Amino acid sequence: MKAKIIGVGSCVPSRVVTNNDLAKSVDTSDEWIKTRTGICERRISDEDTSTSDLALGACKKALAAAKFPAENLDLIVVGTTSPDTLFPSVSCILQYKLGATKAAAFDVSAACSGFNFALTIGSSFIENKTYKNVLVVGADTLTKYLDWTDRGTCVLFGDGAGAVVLTASENEAGILASWLKAEGSLGYHLIMPGGGSRDPEQKHGRFIRMDGKEVFKFAVRALEESIVGSLKLANLKIEDVDLFIPHQANIRIVNYTIKKMGLSKEKVYVNLHKYGNTSAASIPLALDEALADGKIKKGDIIVLSGFGAGLTCGANVIKWGG
Ligand code: UT7
Repeated sequence: MKAKIIGVGSCVPSRVVTNNDLAKSVDTSDEWIKTRTGICERRISDEDTSTSDLALGACKKALAAAKFPAENLDLIVVGTTSPDTLFPSVSCILQYKLGATKAAAFDVSAACSGFNFALTIGSSFIENKTYKNVLVVGADTLTKYLDWTDRGTCVLFGDGAGAVVLTASENEAGILASWLKAEGSLGYHLIMPGGGSRDPEQKHGRFIRMDGKEVFKFAVRALEESIVGSLKLANLKIEDVDLFIPHQANIRIVNYTIKKMGLSKEKVYVNLHKYGNTSAASIPLALDEALADGKIKKGDIIVLSGFGAGLTCGANVIKWGG
C-alpha cells in the first residue's frame, strides 16, 4: 500500500514586499539581498491573517484539485512552528473550518522541515492501513516573529501555506521513501526563545534568533545527506530523479548542493526569488508551482528535501501520478 498525492494547493498573502521596500527601514540593499540569498520579494500577511487562514486557503485548493470532499478525510497533519495559538492546533482549526468531521488532527513541529515530517507521518498512516485519506499541510507566518531591526534575519522570511491530499493506492505511484533526521545538539543556532514554557512572558524576546553561517553549513550538509539517504531507501540513483524540490531558503545553499552533488540545474525547482523562505510552506508551495509550470508529468521521480530549526532535515521520494 502506498500514499499517492491526488491534489496540491497553495496560498500566500496578497501583500508583496520587495527588497527595496525593506531597504527603506533597515540597513540593507536590493543588491545585497539578491546576491547573498537570491530573494527579490516576499509575501507578508496582515495583522488579521494567521497561519490557519493561509492553510485553509491552501487546503481548499488541494481538495478542489483532488475533487475530494473534506468530510471523507481520516486525518489532517500540519507542519507549522507559527500556530495561531499554542492550542488548539492549526490542524484542529482546519478540521472544524473544512467540515472534516471524521478526521483526527494534529500539528508537527519541525520548523522548515515541517512539511517533510508531516508528509512522512501522513503517508505512514496510509502505508500501515490505519487511514485511507490524509490531508498534509505546511504553513507558517514567520514574518510575525521577525525583529525588523535585525538585517540578518528580517530579509529572509515570507509567509505562505501549501497542502496535498494523500490517498491509499495499490499501484506503483506514490511516496516511495521517506528519510528524516534531527540534530538537537545544534538547536541553539536557530531559536525562538520567548513564548514557550521556559519563558511564557517572552522576557528573552519574541523574535527569531539565528546564526546564519552555522545554519548555512548545516543546510548544505543536510540537503545532500537527505537526498542521498532517501534515494538509498527508495533503491534509486541521482540520475533516476526528474525533479528536485529543495527547501527554498537561499539560492547559494541550492547552488552549492547542485555543484557538490553534480545535479543538473534544470532538474532543480526554485521559486524563492518570489517568496523568500516560507518555512514549512516552502516545499508544497514550490511543488504546486512546479505542477502549474508543467515541470511534473506522470511517472516522474521527484525528491522533496528540506532542513530547518531543531536542527532537523528530511526528504521524501515520490513517483508521480498513475
Ligand atoms: O530554513 C532555515 C533558515 N535559515 C537559513 O537558511 C539561513 C542560512 N544562512 C544564510 O542564508 C546566510 O548565512 C545569510 C543570508 C543569513 C547571511 O549570509 P552570509 O553570507 O553568511 O553573511 P554574513 O552573516 O557573513 O554577513 C556578511 C556581512 C556582515 O557584515 P560585515 O560584518 O562583513 O561588515 C553582515 O553584517 O553582511 C552583513 N549583512 C548584511 N548586509 C546587508 C548581513 N545581513 C545583511 C543584510 N544587508 N540584510
